[in-house]
Amino acid sequence: MEGEDWVYPEKVKEHFLNPRNFLFGDESKFDFDATGIVGNPICGDQMKMYIKVKDDRIVDLRWKTYGCASAIASTSALSELAKGKTLDEALNISAKDIDNYLGNLPKHKFHCSVLGHEALADAIKNYREQKK
Ligand code: FES
Repeated sequence: MEGEDWVYPEKVKEHFLNPRNFLFGDESKFDFDATGIVGNPICGDQMKMYIKVKDDRIVDLRWKTYGCASAIASTSALSELAKGKTLDEALNISAKDIDNYLGNLPKHKFHCSVLGHEALADAIKNYREQKK
């Protein structure tokens, strides 16, 4: 592994230190329609996502995690990318989209960037099952 692989881009650091749409405190403070939760099989960290949906569109969302700096920055970025999108558009946000938005995570932290999206996909699945 080369030395530069250990360097976080500025945007990653900024999102880690100021995470967007992070759920501070009790989840009852956020009016959500569905939640999703996943664990990362590589490190064992967890992510929980809360979505508010109107007319098939994510109008708001929150998340919390035990994940690392990369997971926090990636999910912060994802939350910005997903807000206002239809459910299908949100499902189509890729790990590469998040990576591009943040300016490239170190390669060995790429697995952390999928955690938020998997939790979001689980929340969307649960939302759609509730609506059946
Ligand atoms: S090391 Fe667990 S989410 Fe990054």
